Amino acid sequence: MKTGKNKRVPMDDQVKEEIRARADIVDVVESYVPLKRAGSTYKGLCPFHREKTPSFNVNQQRQMYHCFGCDQGGDVFSFIMGIEGVDFITAMQILAKKVGVEFEPRQQRNKDGIDKAILLRINDELTQHYHQLLLEDPGAAKARQYVEDRKMEPETLKAFMIGYAPEAYEHVIAWGEKKDYTKKQMTAAGVIRPRNPEDPSSDAYTDRFRDRLMFPIMDELGRAIGFSGRVLPGSTHPAKYINSPETMLFKKSRVLFGLDKARSPIVDQRKAVLCEGQIDVIRCHEAGLTHAVAAQGTAVTEDHARILKRYADEVILVLDADTAGQNAALRAAHHFLAAGLTVSAVDLPEGEDPDSLVLKLGKEGFLEHIAGAKSLLDFQIDLLRHREDAEDEAGQMRIARQVMETINQADSAVQRDRLAQQAADRLNISVDALRSDLDRNKNARNRTQRNTAQQAQTSPEVAQQNGPTTHYPQQEVTLVEILNAHPETVEIAREFLPPKCFSTEIFRELFEAILASDQTEPGQFIPGLDPENQELKRLAAKIEMAYRSVGEELDTPTDAMYGAMIQIWRNHLDREVKELKGQQQVNPGDVVLGQNITQLIMAIAGLKEARLATDWEKARGVFEMFGD
Ligand code: CTP
Ligand code: MN
Repeated sequence: MKTGKNKRVPMDDQVKEEIRARADIVDVVESYVPLKRAGSTYKGLCPFHREKTPSFNVNQQRQMYHCFGCDQGGDVFSFIMGIEGVDFITAMQILAKKVGVEFEPRQQRNKDGIDKAILLRINDELTQHYHQLLLEDPGAAKARQYVEDRKMEPETLKAFMIGYAPEAYEHVIAWGEKKDYTKKQMTAAGVIRPRNPEDPSSDAYTDRFRDRLMFPIMDELGRAIGFSGRVLPGSTHPAKYINSPETMLFKKSRVLFGLDKARSPIVDQRKAVLCEGQIDVIRCHEAGLTHAVAAQGTAVTEDHARILKRYADEVILVLDADTAGQNAALRAAHHFLAAGLTVSAVDLPEGEDPDSLVLKLGKEGFLEHIAGAKSLLDFQIDLLRHREDAEDEAGQMRIARQVMETINQADSAVQRDRLAQQAADRLNISVDALRSDLDRNKNARNRTQRNTAQQAQTSPEVAQQNGPTTHYPQQEVTLVEILNAHPETVEIAREFLPPKCFSTEIFRELFEAILASDQTEPGQFIPGLDPENQELKRLAAKIEMAYRSVGEELDTPTDAMYGAMIQIWRNHLDREVKELKGQQQVNPGDVVLGQNITQLIMAIAGLKEARLATDWEKARGVFEMFGD
């Protein structure tokens, strides 16, 4: 490094380069992942996605890593950020310690110079404020009635600091400014948002949560880091829950609602109960299941599994009894198995969730019901038997295959062995037969992975072509990915997005296939596609592969879906305007044509304003007007 440059860089940058110089990426990676030398690079199994054949490459000379399987890559800092799930400064701290460099981070600030401590203070004080409003504010009468109707005890409201966000656009803004918080700080805390995100110069902001029952979300230390707001009866807003966006504090893929209270009970029993919603967790705690938590408005991730594994050996899944809930249970189970946890699951009666069941059966009855949790394999086999025709041999094989897939997720060979034994007993096949299928299954998968990795490696063009993002309108890709990953969003798209809005034939077809498949699970639309159309199939597979991560970095799937839908609408209306303007050149005197154009332009302006999904009421008017 040149000394001249050195003088000007701030202290942290100097330390950063010092750490980089001392931390050899091969050593660092090797302390997490076994690596083998292969020519000029080192190879290993990628720690960022599950694979059985190494496609994770570390280049010592360039001090970089890259995975051909999942496309993750970067330098030694990004590796630590990824594997430890920490921010940059923490990664620096970890590495500094490893290589013996002194490093005291300054206060953590984001690029706008915003301090984490202030964001915590805003979330904490607003939690108190919302709670006070729920208890006392005349405007909260409706919310008080609602919590009473739902039989939430006053002690519960207090324990979970449940609150009320008033039906106003600038209540929080005024509240915060009185306390000398800036709009930037409140935005970074996730409690307000710009009215018009497309115009960075605009100084118009609005409260994020309006007229909602507020559940503060606490980190493991019990500090408020975000909110989930439930719609109240009588509201026309379609999103049942609105959550804080991703902020410096709030990382949805890692937050477990209730963990601050559940942690010590979990440690005591080495068991955790996983439910679906906040109200479920709250009700479980009321009923004495104080080791209950929920993933926050998102599917269970590897991070969630890793966090629970710190405290528990076993997870009991108590998810909603509908198909979506059951599938979510199986997907969650895979992550838990991979993290080395034992999994069991509770069959809930149809249409019930923990909240409704406690109210129906009483605490005792509910606890009895939970005590009847089945092992994961029993849960899965019973479920599949119910769905498949168990008499039919093909059905039996499908069941066996899916069960094997679950077993394959388990991290330890001992656990896989135990599970295989159990499954063989239940399925009435010999454990040897099951094991040999298990191996064959594994080999087949390795082959496919190897092929993909090789393709990506030998031919960069192929890898590029594989990304529809490079060829298709981003919003159409995003929308279809979200619809596939989150089937609950399909009905809204069906209602408000006519296929004509798509600019590409191929995405229109994918969209129509999703609508036609009535899918409850990602990937169900694929068999309905035109078998002759290779391109379509390739895209569908790509979309299906993306489903795990889609939408998780965004607010809620529904909000993300609205965002994409509004954009697609806008592009469609833009094209219409162009078309009409073309006609106008031929027919300059056509008054109706002129009016139509003006109307479209106004509609586009409306959508522009409504781009944020939370303002979608505005958009809905446009959708309805131009839908047919
Ligand atoms: N959720 C979300 N966004 C939505 C819907 C749901 O983030 N649009 C999350 C919330 O965390 C919610 C959980 O998913 O608690 C489960 O949703 P659901 O079962 O629909 O809600 P319940 O928790 O059962 O709430 P309620 O009993 O009030 O209907
Ligand atoms: Mn419920």
